[in-house]
Amino acid sequence: MEKVNLKTEKLRKKIIKIFRKFGLNNNHASISADALINAELVGAYGHGLSRLKMYCDRISKKVINPKPKIKTKKISQSISHIDADNSIGFVAADLAIKKAIQNAKKTGIGLIAVKNSGHYGLSGYYAEQAVKKNLVTMIYTNAPPAVAPHGALKSLFGTNPICFGTPTGSKIPFILDTSISMINRGKIRVAARNNQKIPEGVALDKFGKPTTDAKKALQGVQLPIAGFRGSGLAWMVDILSGVLTGGNHAGRVKDPFDDFTGPQNIGHLFITFKTNLFVKNYNTRIKENINRIKRLPKIKGVKEIMYPGQNKFKRFKMNLKKEIKIAENIKKDLEILEN
Ligand SMILES: NC(=O)c1ccc[n+]([C@@H]2O[C@H](COP(=O)([O-])OP(=O)(O)OC[C@H]3O[C@@H](n4cnc5c(N)ncnc54)[C@H](O)[C@@H]3O)[C@@H](O)[C@H]2O)c1
Repeated sequence: MEKVNLKTEKLRKKIIKIFRKFGLNNNHASISADALINAELVGAYGHGLSRLKMYCDRISKKVINPKPKIKTKKISQSISHIDADNSIGFVAADLAIKKAIQNAKKTGIGLIAVKNSGHYGLSGYYAEQAVKKNLVTMIYTNAPPAVAPHGALKSLFGTNPICFGTPTGSKIPFILDTSISMINRGKIRVAARNNQKIPEGVALDKFGKPTTDAKKALQGVQLPIAGFRGSGLAWMVDILSGVLTGGNHAGRVKDPFDDFTGPQNIGHLFITFKTNLFVKNYNTRIKENINRIKRLPKIKGVKEIMYPGQNKFKRFKMNLKKEIKIAENIKKDLEILEN
């Protein structure tokens, strides 16, 4: 975590204290607080403080294990399999990306599968750590049902993000980190609460008819990006992070907000590798690649062709200097959780 301003540091300490109160050790509490603060700083509010109460509720209901006995099984110098023992997802993911980096530095490639984990927030947060160590990375996680497989009337896939990161030869990393749904579920929840419409083409009602009514969309299904292509990508992520790792899959990951009947048993897959495996001048080549694309003639209204991750990096740097704004309902959560 980069150095944050004093007010943010105070907030970070408060979150650590809360996680400590709920039984996490100091190291696990700091890892989790850093991930939440980072989400706020990159503007991914749906993965930041708004989730703190949910994590604490899940610990209280014993469906997140605050004192996990995480096991790392070495399969080869490059490959490891982590059983997270239903730790908070941040802790499992932190361990996994560190191991993936270590293995790639040693052998050229690191491949880490994680099972029995929970929601870990933003894939890009872990990708950045590998890219900072000059590695290319691909990261997958599955998530609770939100999106209907192409042709189905029922949600089964999660918003299953796909993440790819690479060094760029400049200080701004290339991080493509995208969910496979047309719109994120948080936005639909907010629209339903405020009686607002949602855009066309993002959801179907429970009868399978397209709808712009947020409440009907919540009872129905969300649509994947690009029809059957997005559905295929979601399916791929479910296979890579669920079937392959030993984690839950095929719609069995529980919703962290609504389902306390057991742990989520989410799976993640982390792949990292060196940039110089096949060419010696990767930095020159990636710079040339990006520059050629950036120099293309632009459509009206576009000042700069940006690569994935550029906008988030700018937002993060800007927000680092500012105070994190906390919504009133979250302030209340913080107070209750603290005392
Ligand atoms: N853990 C989970 O279960 C889970 C599930 C879903 C999503 N997420 C996380 O939520 C976050 C948000 O996902 P999202 O799909 O809403 O992301 P998004 O739509 O904000 O961005 C998707 C990608 O597009 C890039 N991008 C955005 N505007 C761009 C532009 N003008 N030009 C070029 N590139 C541009 C972004 O840098 C990003 O890489 C991600 O970090 C993801 O990992 C987590």
